[in-house]
Amino acid sequence: MKGVFDRCSGKYIAFSWICSFGFTERWRRQCAAALPEPPTATPTGYDLMAGTGELWPHLLRRFPDLASITAVDISSGMHQRALERLHRHRAHRITFVEDDVLASALPDASADFVVSTFGLKTFDTQHQAKLAELIARCLRRGGVFSLIEASDPKGWILRPLFLLYLKAMLPLIERLFLAGAQDFTMIGTYSTSFGDASAFGDRLRAEGLEVELKRCFFGCATLVAGRKPS
Ligand SMILES: C[S@@+](CC[C@H](N)C(=O)[O-])C[C@H]1O[C@@H](n2cnc3c(N)ncnc32)[C@H](O)[C@@H]1O
Repeated sequence: MKGVFDRCSGKYIAFSWICSFGFTERWRRQCAAALPEPPTATPTGYDLMAGTGELWPHLLRRFPDLASITAVDISSGMHQRALERLHRHRAHRITFVEDDVLASALPDASADFVVSTFGLKTFDTQHQAKLAELIARCLRRGGVFSLIEASDPKGWILRPLFLLYLKAMLPLIERLFLAGAQDFTMIGTYSTSFGDASAFGDRLRAEGLEVELKRCFFGCATLVAGRKPS
């Protein structure tokens, strides 16, 4: 997976914006908006599977006194590009840890918040259990979290069109505009096999966290947010 994202980092931002018709940005904004109030006015925390850090502007706009975000990602390619091109003016509030969230050494009780956008869908049930365990372990008491992921909008009347777009149109757009970025064509397959974030929400509850689940845009994305009891 590290190799896939290192290869894709140069094209990832443009791809996600064009092909989602701006929905990925909207969902990132919703993810930041759904984060409950952190336990302190100057919180520190993790953006897991941070990629190019597109969530940070939304997070810093909502919490102007936020002390620092530690970006955690298995791919340093994504992060280097993010800091050089996008986040130079906020770099003093961002640190980076190259780490595998499935075998992570992040310290216990080290975060007031944990956020993550679009990193879940490649994870099977066991991986999701490990991620839930990591979030519960890293959060301080009273700490908060919010994650969002693209989902399979089961029951939506336009689902067949949506899936056609993901599985047939996206690969075509990629061939035409993003030559060489073949790994993106897997997004449709990943999203349908992921389903939605409800099973992940159950894993977080099993770890003792308070969890709320929300469907976004007819279930095309799901959001899980909540708190570690104080
Ligand atoms: C689809 S991108 C999402 C990036 C970003 N959060 C966003 O909103 O666009 C998924 C990211 O997860 C990272 N990733 C995948 N598996 C990982 C793992 N096991 N540990 C840490 N990062 C991982 C990839 O390197 C990539 O940057």
